[in-house]
Formats: sequence, structure tokens, C-alpha cells
Amino acid sequence: MAVDVLLGLQWGDEGKGKLVDVLSPDYHLIARFQGGPNAGHTLEFEGKKFVLNTIPSGIFMENTQNLIGNGVVIDPIGLKGELDKLKEAGHDLAAKKNLMIAKRAHLILPTHRLLDAASEQKLGAEKIGSTLKGISPAYMDKTGRNGLRVGDINLPDFKDRYQTLVKKHLFLLESLYGQTVDLGSHEPAFFEALETLRQFPLVDAERVLHDYLSQGKKVLAEGAQGSLLDVDFGTYPFVTSSTTTTAGACTGLGVAPSQIGEVYGIFKAYSTRVGSGPFPTELTEETGEEIRQKGREFGAVSGRPRRTGWIDLPALKYSIRLNGVTQLLMTKADVLSGFEKIYVCTHYHSPEETLEYLPFEIGAVTLTPELKEFQGWSQDITAVTSRNELPIPLLNYIAYLESELQVPITYVSVGPDRKQTLRM
Ligand code: GDP
Ligand code: IMO
Ligand code: MG
Repeated sequence: MAVDVLLGLQWGDEGKGKLVDVLSPDYHLIARFQGGPNAGHTLEFEGKKFVLNTIPSGIFMENTQNLIGNGVVIDPIGLKGELDKLKEAGHDLAAKKNLMIAKRAHLILPTHRLLDAASEQKLGAEKIGSTLKGISPAYMDKTGRNGLRVGDINLPDFKDRYQTLVKKHLFLLESLYGQTVDLGSHEPAFFEALETLRQFPLVDAERVLHDYLSQGKKVLAEGAQGSLLDVDFGTYPFVTSSTTTTAGACTGLGVAPSQIGEVYGIFKAYSTRVGSGPFPTELTEETGEEIRQKGREFGAVSGRPRRTGWIDLPALKYSIRLNGVTQLLMTKADVLSGFEKIYVCTHYHSPEETLEYLPFEIGAVTLTPELKEFQGWSQDITAVTSRNELPIPLLNYIAYLESELQVPITYVSVGPDRKQTLRM
């Protein structure tokens, strides 16, 4: 058996949570492989809406197990909040026994969040637009080999290790940012939240995963963020701090590259980005605002308005290659209903040349998109249940994207609800 992967091809918020939920009845295990509470994955069904940050999107299926993998960074306080909210809504995961946590996953400390905020504040206008969840400082400690891991909480000297790391953070806060910090209530909240963590199986996740595979069970790896936010291949430095591409599923779960099966690449019928950084097809005026309002493009984590723009083929082609995408899933097609014309960026013009790919210099030069015009459609498609009910201009748009991207679009999403999903 192989591990299938579902991940975002743009700058995040493509609808990963919704589609993982839709696909999860076919899987025995859903495993998050990177990122942390910077993610906000929205699921809607039966008139209810849930936003998951660290918890995988398979938790609402009766027979599906869920795993937070070693590549994820976990904020115990945030995770406790997420679990408490779910419990209030009638989903007690500790009682349901449908969530496992990798011992090798790193912890986000309260001081990681303070460092994230201080760094952004110092950058001022140059800020990354971080979600301020402590992601970058936590991954820095991981690669700097100072980090604390979930499995460490059971060590007798855990408190000492915690104090050593906090001491370093307090020193950094003071010396780099001139901040003297009183940890006040943060610390008791952190230790209290660790108790919540202990209610779940803390596991050697790679072993669990290998057991699933050897028993012929199906596993889906759930990505967070998007390929254009990847720490290596994204629009650096305006990226997140993890490997958001398929390779991240290998390192973030302990899966060999030869064991990767289907790669579901998900994208919106247009583009969005939240936070700073280059965005070649961005629409800053009326049309951009119209997409934002119709698509309710406001961050699931921060509530910030998302920047909007037309779909970007060079960027999508780049992401498809980086990930080895085998199937495409397109979301938010319904948001484009009512636009007389819609546009696709086919390539970019830089001051010197025409480009059909996303160059290293994306941050340094202004790329003007070359746009191809398509006929829009006026019908509301949110109640459509099969491909042949879709308006012809939308089918033409889909056919054009497939011919350019050379990968089939196997699902089209026409609304936020689980049921508003077409198998093509
Ligand atoms: P994720 O981070 O990739 O899981 O995506 P988010 O949950 O951050 O953002 C996607 C937003 O679009 C959420 O509010 C979803 O409920 C919503 N959504 C997902 N698919 C569709 C769709 O096909 N149409 C519409 N109108 N909304 C959708
Ligand atoms: P999901 O999984 C959209 C963006 C932030 C910022 C940059 C760095 O919901 O698609 P970080 O907090 O990681 O240091 O922020 O990355 N970002 C996201 N944008 N969706 C996300 O996750 C994101 N996670 C981080 O806005 O620009
Ligand atoms: Mg999101």
C-alpha cells in the first residue's frame, strides 16, 4: 500500500480541510505532516462549521483514525483550545479515541509565540505577515537542535530542559528586541495543556504508519499551507518555515518516496494570498474586492482579508511539478459565477523577457501577467450535483486548465459544504 497526499498548490486556503473530509471515508488514517496552528482548515456539513488548526480533517468520520505527524509543530495551549471547542460541540476526541500524536513532533512554547511577534514587529513594513503562532521560532529550534518534542514531556528532566530553552528565548527577546517579558499565566497554561496531550496516545508515528501500510490500510497525508509558501520553493522569505510539498510528507511522517501513491493537488478557481509577498496576478481594485466578498476571502486563523487575483498557470505548473501531482481538485468554482469575463495568467512579462515559469527573482522584479480572457457564466452552480449540469463556459474553463496543466481535474467544489462537491 502507498500513502496518498493532499496538498495546496497556491498560497494556502485552497480548501484542503473540506476535501480531506470529503475523501476521508475512503481512508483508514488521515495524517497531518507539517505546519502547525498557522493552518486553518474549514469543514462544513449538516449546517455546522468547524475550523481545525493542528488536528487532521478526518476526525468527523466514524471509522477513520487521525495522526499528528512528526513534521508538525504543536502548541499544546492551542491544541487544548481546539480539543475543548470540539468537545463542547459534541466531539470528544479523547473519548472517541480517534487521534494519535507523534512523539517526535516539536512543541511550540509560549516564548516561541513572543519571539514570532517581536520579530515581525521589528521588521515593520517588511514583515512576513506571519500568523504569529510561533511557527518560525519553533522550526528554528528544531533545526537548531534545541527543540522540545512531545515525547520529551515524559522525561524526568523535562522541566529543566524547558527552563533552559526559555532562558535562551528570554535572552533573545531582551537582546534582539529589547523586551523584558513576564511569562505570567503563559507558563501554568502550558503545563496544564501538556496534561491534555497525555490523554492521547503519544506514538512512534512512523511505526504506526508502517503498520497501517503493511496491513493494507489506506493512509492520506494532509498538507497545510501551500506549495508557494514552501520554505525552499515558495516566494522566500515570504513563506512559512516547513516543507509544504510532497517531500514534506516523506520527512513529516517517515514515508519513503517510493511509497507515495496519488498526489491530490488542490487549487482555487482563482488565486488568493494572505500576508505579504509577491503575487503576480493580484487584483487590487474592484474585481479583487468582488472576489473577496463573494468568496468570503478572510483568513480562517487571523480573520485578515485575503488578497485576491486571477488564476496563475506558471505558478500552478511549477507546483504540480514540485509535487508530482496526479489528480487536481478545483475549489470555489461557484465564486466565479456572475463575472462576465474571467481571466487566466498564461505567462509573465518581466522588464527584460517573457517568462513561463516562476523565477528566483520573483521578489525582486515586477512580473506583469499576460492574461487570456474566457467567457464567464451567470448561473448559480452551488446546487449542481453532476458534471453535465455545469454551464458550458465553466466546462470550457476546466478543459483549458486540464490541457495546460496536463493533469486531470477529478473533483470540482461548488460551495463550502461537504455535499457541494462534484466527482468529474
Ligand atoms: P484550507 O486551509 O485549504 O483548508 O482552506 P480554508 O478553510 O482556510 O479556506 C477555504 C474557505 O473556502 C473556507 O471558508 C471553506 O469553507 C470555503 N470553501 C471551500 N470550498 C469552497 C467552495 O467550493 N466554494 C465556496 N464558496 N467556498 C468554499
Ligand atoms: P492553511 O493550511 C494561508 C502564511 C502567513 C504568512 C506566511 C508565514 O490554512 O492553508 P507563518 O505563521 O507560517 O510564519 O506565516 O504564511 N500562512 C498561510 N496562509 N494559509 C495557511 O495555512 C497559512 N499558514 C501560513 O499568512 O504570509
Ligand atoms: Mg486555511
